[in-house]
Amino acid sequence: MYGPTWGASAPAKVILLGEHAVVFGKPAVSVAIGLRLRCRIRLAAVPSLNGIQLGPQNYSYVSACLAKRNAPPTAVLTDSDFPSGSGLGSSAAVTVALLAALAASTGSFKEDVVAREAFEVECDVQGRASPIDTSTCTHGKGILVSRERESSLLWEMSKDTRRWCVHDLPVPKMTLVVGFTGKSKPTGPLVAKVKRYVDHSTFARDMVDEIGEVTMEGVRHMSKGDLEGLGRMMTKDHKLLAILGVSTRELDKLVSSVLPYSYGAKLTGAGGGGSMVALTDRPEEVVDIIRRKGGQPFTAETGVPGVKID
Ligand code: MEV
Repeated sequence: MYGPTWGASAPAKVILLGEHAVVFGKPAVSVAIGLRLRCRIRLAAVPSLNGIQLGPQNYSYVSACLAKRNAPPTAVLTDSDFPSGSGLGSSAAVTVALLAALAASTGSFKEDVVAREAFEVECDVQGRASPIDTSTCTHGKGILVSRERESSLLWEMSKDTRRWCVHDLPVPKMTLVVGFTGKSKPTGPLVAKVKRYVDHSTFARDMVDEIGEVTMEGVRHMSKGDLEGLGRMMTKDHKLLAILGVSTRELDKLVSSVLPYSYGAKLTGAGGGGSMVALTDRPEEVVDIIRRKGGQPFTAETGVPGVKID
């Protein structure tokens, strides 16, 4: 790259409890993990991502970030430790890292502003979203999204009638193993599918309420360092998400095969493919089983920082 450049990086995230229901304003819990997406920018004649010119049909998150910050034509380079569409927050990480790099280029980087702008970009591009992915990629560590405001509040976000209080959440020492199915699914259509179901079915609305309750019970276990209790809630959450129609045969197979060696396991993120996560004290066995069942396993480091200006 010629001329001055600015860079930032953001972590991947794993949702432990509450995905999908959080879009309806229910609570959710997530952690940042030790895989990062790095982004570098410089001024250019035409806007591009990794050498490909931006157009109306491609890289909508990148174009939306440039528009959000009224940026001049910018060349964007990214490289990532994790695949896109894997349920680990690749679109949130690219959005957060790019907005942070753009803010750094004008000397105006602030974590809460990046979190807000990133949430707005996700809503615009995806159609519907909650702030959990973008807040986790921004703040790092652990995140609790809830309706009520607690003393650990980081920021509040709202959209139409929905409101989310985003908190810093202390994460106990724990081992997570992620299993990627190898199948990528964009989040937007899955979120829209759940909305259609919820709009037309009291049963689906009850499932969303129950995910909210299971999440809060999981948070109580987590705050006491009770990994067995947290794991039980994760497994229960997986069953509720499956009833909502966002699991797949591959995800169910990976989840059920690791359960004998885990406190709990579930799909993580939007589902429809993507990844599952297991909470375990037997990571080697879980990694081995995921591999034998055709998934791509890795042990996820937690307690990692959020967005960083590089
Ligand atoms: C996707 O990682 C999480 C969802 O709940 C969508 C969102 O919260 O924006 C499915």
